[in-house]
Amino acid sequence: MNLAFFASHRGSNMQAVLDACRETRLTMRPVLAVSNNRKSEALVRAREAGLATRVFNATIEPDPLALDQAMLDALLEEEVDLVILAGYLKCLGPKVVGHFRNRILNIHPALLPQYGGQGMFGRHVHEAVIAAGETTTGVTIHLVDEEYDHGATIARTLVPVHPGDTAGMLAERVLQREHEFLVEVLEEIQSGKLLLPPAGPALAGI
Ligand code: GRF
Repeated sequence: MNLAFFASHRGSNMQAVLDACRETRLTMRPVLAVSNNRKSEALVRAREAGLATRVFNATIEPDPLALDQAMLDALLEEEVDLVILAGYLKCLGPKVVGHFRNRILNIHPALLPQYGGQGMFGRHVHEAVIAAGETTTGVTIHLVDEEYDHGATIARTLVPVHPGDTAGMLAERVLQREHEFLVEVLEEIQSGKLLLPPAGPALAGI
């Protein structure tokens, strides 16, 4: 199974998956990293691991439909089977989402449907969780559709919020769990323990 990653900044979740592939805990094949941010650390990490890298944004292609098509072409060129959004802060276009229906996963650092949606990323998520007085937060892995943080959840894990936590402390605890959990969920997909819903017609059989 060929993997592509979309990441806007650090790419530490992508790195966790790359490490698991290198250690053969995962037998998936990372082939491509895409970013909207040509300076993202994620692209550096991907190049170091030997992946093809591509940058797509409105500066490079101002027409959203052409941008969507160019992203789809890049995924097809690398024969990608499964796409992982790992800290990707843009919405995908309808061509990519349609072609890869039920084959795009996103990892979110809270328990969706709460604390998700546009603007709910990074510290904002953890600040909102703490402000609401939650004692538990978590990590959600879900299928991607046309809306931010909206597709069906395929797996969730809980992370405690401790009294006196700052957003930074909570972010660190959640991120550590994200790294483990993303690999655990991919292992379950790989072994067939976790079945993704059928792919769209373009990818039927994968
Ligand atoms: C993670 O918290 C992830 O859940 C969210 O964005 C953050 C990305 O971190 N979608 P990294 O770029 O993987 O280090």
